[in-house]
Amino acid sequence: MRIMLLCVTLLILYSFMESQSGMILCLTLLILYSFMESQSEKLQVVGPDSPLVALAGEDLVLPCFIKPNTSAVDVTVEWMRLDEVASLVHLYKDHEDRNENQAQPYRGRTSLFKEELQKGNASLKLSALQVSDEGEYKCLVEDKSWYDDITVHVTVEVLGSHSVITMESYDNSGGINLVCESRGWNPEPDVLWLDREGATLPAEDTQTHRDTEGFSVKRHITVYDYSDSNKFYCRILQKHHMMETEVIINSKVFGVWNWLVGISVSACLTAVGLIVTAVICYKKASELQKEKQCAEFKKKKKFAVDVTLDPDIAHPALILSADGKQVTLGDTQQNLPDTPLRFHFASVVGKQSFSSGRFYYEVQVRGKTEWTLGVVREDINRKRWIPRSPQNGFWTVGLRNENQYWAYDDAAVSLTLIEKVEKVGVFVDYEEGLVSFYDVESSSHIYSFTDQSFTKKKLYPYFSPRHSERGENSAPLIITAVTE
Ligand SMILES: *[C@@H]1O[C@H](CO)[C@@H](O)[C@H](O)[C@H]1NC(C)=O
Ligand SMILES: *[C@@H]1O[C@H](CO)[C@@H](O)[C@H](O)[C@H]1NC(C)=O
Repeated sequence: MRIMLLCVTLLILYSFMESQSGMILCLTLLILYSFMESQSEKLQVVGPDSPLVALAGEDLVLPCFIKPNTSAVDVTVEWMRLDEVASLVHLYKDHEDRNENQAQPYRGRTSLFKEELQKGNASLKLSALQVSDEGEYKCLVEDKSWYDDITVHVTVEVLGSHSVITMESYDNSGGINLVCESRGWNPEPDVLWLDREGATLPAEDTQTHRDTEGFSVKRHITVYDYSDSNKFYCRILQKHHMMETEVIINSKVFGVWNWLVGISVSACLTAVGLIVTAVICYKKASELQKEKQCAEFKKKKKFAVDVTLDPDIAHPALILSADGKQVTLGDTQQNLPDTPLRFHFASVVGKQSFSSGRFYYEVQVRGKTEWTLGVVREDINRKRWIPRSPQNGFWTVGLRNENQYWAYDDAAVSLTLIEKVEKVGVFVDYEEGLVSFYDVESSSHIYSFTDQSFTKKKLYPYFSPRHSERGENSAPLIITAVTE
């Protein structure tokens, strides 16, 4: 470009000076230059459009070729590694490989495709990939009159070792501390703890360590006694790969923990008889667990909201109190207009809806033999009875036949509660996808739906007082004020 400008300037100058020879020289230069320019402008080196990903141990072809179709037999092809300091990976010059200065890690692992060179193909074959091969590579093609280069990014995936779950210790709160570990991954994987339904469990942050083998990961969790067979999974997740290890903890083990936790409480040391000690200790452990639950529960109460029932959409057989705080099922259907939102089964929702944040409310169920409570999505089917499940937009728990508690998860879960529930606390964290139920009197947890998706729809508090045959379930559901 500079030559061209110079020439044009000279041309103008020469034309003023009327110098014939100067003009001819300049024109020749111009023509020669534009010829060279057109030659070299057309030729370019082309590489892959996206980064290359390959598994460790495999062979990888790093593409690099000249466009349009030109032989590369006579050119110099230089492959370099760009990270940290540039190092020579492969050099082809004067019709042969010149690898005297090749970087140590690449010795004997590189080659060009000789028969492809005449087609302008300067791709590099790198054998037996290692994690350390990950990075940027430059393919530089140079001829006497031009040169061009491209950069290729290589990612080397390595699957780590099988994850190992270790039971580390008892937790003061009555749980068991587990840790899941796995080594030798690349790139860095995610570590998840799941319950037996596959829902993710809250765990500590993943600890990651990097060495020449790749990433080592470690994640701690405290698990509690949820059911008869407590099954937990540790899942290691990489872009294209997944690995899972499971651990099963028998309920009895948690029982033993409770005793042991108790024994570690120093007060026990002064106790006299062994049996007495054990009983005291057992109590202590469960008290600790309860205290923790209680503290958790108190936090939920901070999100208390005022809920009133919506008479305009209640099923016609439901009787609502004037203040909208109580509902019971009457014997007869009232003559009410059937609106699109009115329930065709004995249900009602609150006037208030929620589509973000956290909220909490309490409902008294004292004296009832059957009830269903929870939250529903705005778009549920209100006209036809469908199974109450998260899939159908219901996150509910309920009582049947006086003493059978159920959580209506995608498969209904039978709940074992020690005490009869008189007041239910319902807590929702919209963003977390969490719906939790509590026994308010004992401050204990009943059930939680975790990692739910509300698909950006509104949620309504849901109430069903259920049938009252022979008047035994006639007590109302009452929305009560939340007290600390
Ligand atoms: C590219 O060049 C090679 C060798 O000169 C030739 O055999 C081949 O037909 C050419 N291909 C195209 C598409 O021009
Ligand atoms: C270059 O040669 C390699 C090895 O034979 C081949 O895999 C690749 O497709 C070739 N590239 C082009 C553009 O022909």
